[in-house]
Amino acid sequence: MSNGNAYSTDTQFAGLRVAITGGTSGLGLALVGELLHRGAQVAFVARRRDGVERVRRDYPGTHGIIGDVSKKHDIHPIAIQILGTLGGLDVLINNASDLGPVPLALLADTDCEDFERALATNVLGPFRLTKALLGSLAASAREGRGALVVNVSSDAAVNAYPYWGAYGASKAALYHLSRIWDEELSAQKIRILSFDPGDMDTPLHATAAPDADRSTLKRPETAARELGDAIAAVLSRGAPDSAVAACEAVG
Ligand SMILES: NC(=O)c1ccc[n+]([C@@H]2O[C@H](COP(=O)([O-])OP(=O)(O)OC[C@H]3O[C@@H](n4cnc5c(N)ncnc54)[C@H](OP(=O)(O)O)[C@@H]3O)[C@@H](O)[C@H]2O)c1
Repeated sequence: MSNGNAYSTDTQFAGLRVAITGGTSGLGLALVGELLHRGAQVAFVARRRDGVERVRRDYPGTHGIIGDVSKKHDIHPIAIQILGTLGGLDVLINNASDLGPVPLALLADTDCEDFERALATNVLGPFRLTKALLGSLAASAREGRGALVVNVSSDAAVNAYPYWGAYGASKAALYHLSRIWDEELSAQKIRILSFDPGDMDTPLHATAAPDADRSTLKRPETAARELGDAIAAVLSRGAPDSAVAACEAVG
């Protein structure tokens, strides 16, 4: 494992091909900036064209893809565009997320459609997109480039917070899916890890908890740096092994 001195910030991820879902706001947007700054080639996905075009303008060299990960028929077009623009894939970050009902509601008051949308975005979307990209990730692993999927989780995956039922149940499923898949793919040297960014000052948090004191919340840029270090540690690109603990530290 490297000692952390072998790479400068802007070359640490040179040649690394990364795709991020939900790259136009909050943590995903911060990740676009962080990973680009570390030298990665970055593709990102979001539903709204104006947001995708804004980020593409603000971060020249990135590849913006318009798509909805909750929609089955968007998955292959998204995957094909990721592979077409990056020429392969080394790291996938499943970050896009749905809160379920807004305002948050008790489970008994949650409409089935809101529950379904949370599952479709937070569990099925990452499952389908990862599955569609597994062949490319396996190729990266075989070439010794490293192959990693990060599923963005939450402490709601393990804590039973009232009113967070749809979101919490979907994040719990995603967390467990990540653990099982990581076991199943270890022989192919593909890692599937969870990352809990902590409470961040983002539009999602403001929607969920509009009365929260924003000064107590983590900056998404801080969480993006932590995840960048964890990715570097997993791929042996100059971060201490201890940074890996940021992944899997859920709850
Ligand atoms: N904020 C927190 O305190 C907190 C705490 C723990 C975990 N997390 C997790 O951290 C991750 C990022 O959250 P955030 O707070 O940064 O969220 P955010 O600010 O609401 O950003 C969400 C991003 O995802 C995109 N998106 C949403 N639904 C999508 C879909 N179906 N398909 C494609 N893109 C979609 C959005 O763009 P469009 O609307 O244009 O699609 C946007 O770019 C999530 O997984 C969340 O669960 C957040």
